[in-house]
Amino acid sequence: MKIHSAASGAHSHMWLVGVAGLAAGLVLMAYIPSLEAITHSLFWFAGFHLVGGIVLLGSLYATIGRRFRQRPNILDFGWVPAWTLGPLLAAVVLLAAAVVVQIAAPSWWPGAIVLTLLAANSFAGHLAAASTARPDHAPLPMVDLLPAGRGLVLDGGCGAGRTSIGVARGLAGASLVAFDRFDSDYIEGGGRALLEKNLRLGGLADRVRIQHGDLTALPFENASFDAAVSAHAIDHLGGAKEAGLREMWRVLKPGGRFLLVVWAPGWTMFAVANLMSFALTTGADWRVMARRIGFEIIDEGTFNGHCFLLLGKPADAENRHA
Ligand SMILES: C[S@@+](CC[C@H](N)C(=O)[O-])C[C@H]1O[C@@H](n2cnc3c(N)ncnc32)[C@H](O)[C@@H]1O
Repeated sequence: MKIHSAASGAHSHMWLVGVAGLAAGLVLMAYIPSLEAITHSLFWFAGFHLVGGIVLLGSLYATIGRRFRQRPNILDFGWVPAWTLGPLLAAVVLLAAAVVVQIAAPSWWPGAIVLTLLAANSFAGHLAAASTARPDHAPLPMVDLLPAGRGLVLDGGCGAGRTSIGVARGLAGASLVAFDRFDSDYIEGGGRALLEKNLRLGGLADRVRIQHGDLTALPFENASFDAAVSAHAIDHLGGAKEAGLREMWRVLKPGGRFLLVVWAPGWTMFAVANLMSFALTTGADWRVMARRIGFEIIDEGTFNGHCFLLLGKPADAENRHA
């Protein structure tokens, strides 16, 4: 039976943002100019056509544009435009809605202010989401993952290799296994082809082995790895998050370290995901899960608005989950 985690459908709402943008663009173009208060003004008529056109074109770009802008010679982590541009479209729609409220129902001005603030919030979310696509944007916190400097490191949920490449470049003495199911809908083609291309471009193909599989049932012997990392992947496992952490524990050698990076509720995630950000697992809950499994917490903190834990498997740990 195929183990199904929340990963493949987890970001389908980003496509909804694109479709909502299309619908909003059409409404703005067709309906808004017919409002009496607006038709008397050529300025507003033209203005709303402009906003509607921007939303329409932006949505088209987000939904079908990527195939026309392949970049063969630079690292590309494959985030689909619905993800990197979704919050921008939301910002444009919210701003247009604020203007509509202000013009059509001036006595509702507090609503217009709230919509404007939400638009600014979504624009900040766009900047945060878009930065994840940049190959020069640090995807990892500065921690001592592999004190010996040499060894085999697992990257669980590697996607198109953003984290694997960061680790491999930071730890010249390490070899890596880049592991994923390669079926996410928010990375172009699931990520495998892009991962291969990125490793080639980064000169890392001989140090990083690619393996396919599920994070909740890792196809590795107990105590196979000197260290492990998993960035923005175990938090995609829905109800199987703790199972994913236990698997990391199982395949880690005693004395090994595991860097976990996840989204957690906070200002950055509120900007990106608005109310949905409150459903994210908190840093405190991740700590509780990690300790329950037997990890000790070596370091912890936030960076880029994300939460990280550097976890250690005690050197004298029995392999309890063998
Ligand atoms: C948001 S991406 C992160 C990719 C990469 N770690 C990074 O930071 O750029 C999450 C990745 O986790 C993978 N993933 C999610 N659930 C998985 C599972 N149950 N087994 C294996 N991979 C999974 C997805 O396929 C996706 O590539």
